[in-house]
Amino acid sequence: MKQLFITDVSPRDGLQNQAVHLSTQDKCWLVEALSDSGIPRIEATSFVSPTAVPQMADAADLLAAVSGSAKDKLCVLVPNSKGFLRAYAAGAREICVVISATETMNQRNIRMSLEQAMSTCLDVVAQAQEVGLQTRAYVAVAFACPFEGQTSPELVLYLSKKMADAGADEVVIADTIGAAHPSQVSNLMQPLINKMGSDRLGIHLHDTRGLGLANAWAAMQVGVRRFDSSAAGLGGCPFAPGAAGNLATEDLAWLAHESGYETGIKLPELLQVVEGLSMRLKKPLGGRSFTWLKHYFSKLSAGLPHRT
Ligand code: COA
Ligand code: ZN
Repeated sequence: MKQLFITDVSPRDGLQNQAVHLSTQDKCWLVEALSDSGIPRIEATSFVSPTAVPQMADAADLLAAVSGSAKDKLCVLVPNSKGFLRAYAAGAREICVVISATETMNQRNIRMSLEQAMSTCLDVVAQAQEVGLQTRAYVAVAFACPFEGQTSPELVLYLSKKMADAGADEVVIADTIGAAHPSQVSNLMQPLINKMGSDRLGIHLHDTRGLGLANAWAAMQVGVRRFDSSAAGLGGCPFAPGAAGNLATEDLAWLAHESGYETGIKLPELLQVVEGLSMRLKKPLGGRSFTWLKHYFSKLSAGLPHRT
């Protein structure tokens, strides 16, 4: 059976943007519950400046708190060498670096020029490799930038190649503000798949304009098999105006399963995670399919046929 590999980024991309700050204990619940629902990889937190993102200030405590099978599935975001050293000291096994494909986004996000961000990413990937950590490299604002408009596809291809050549285990093309449309996704992802193959290439989607699933489908059609999404569609970047929720993991998993892909995700359990998140963040949450899926699986567990 065909496989899709889904990384859930709700504990990082989701929680970094929430007004309600979850306790370390609640974050630990989230990470472990996601793992129990069959999510194969979880972006747990980021080792960034606590002044810049107070929601992620407990990154090391969270890594220490997580136990069980979840421990082997975690990746963490690091913006610079200091972040990498903190992550390594905290026991991280996989790190994510970020280069934005425009000058202004690098400045706003990590206060570096594009050139400085590139040399920092290359340096951190090399340091991580030296100590045997896995690495993912995000190319952010890969389709459009909130400050500079449309992004140059040539530059995205160039940055992706640089990160792949540096040995990043995975290059992740990020639609940070959810501005891409399906033909843009195919046009950008096809040459990347041709060059890199599907094992080292991922896509990170937001659903700001309602095209998250359509973009995921377009990526699947050109051979992309690795996706980032977020339980409940939680997400957004505090430094990218207009970045709304991520593509919801439950929506993506449903699309995948209906289209004959295996994800390893047990949807009824994932829906319970979404409900737990709603309770903790004190607002109703869920992707576009959430209400229907709840109804469907409750009928199914009661032994009643139900498809409509
Ligand atoms: N973790 C914790 N603290 C950090 C840090 C890190 N990774 N990197 C820098 N700092 C600290 C410095 O030690 C310094 O502390 P001090 O004031 O007590 O001496 C302070 O932050 C300022 O350091 P500086 O190098 O001048 O950083 P900056 O103010 O230019 O900020 C970043 C740069 C990258 C640290 C900051 O912009 C950041 O954390 N951005 C995160 C962006 C993000 O998470 N975006 C969403 C995901 S893509
Ligand atoms: Zn994102």
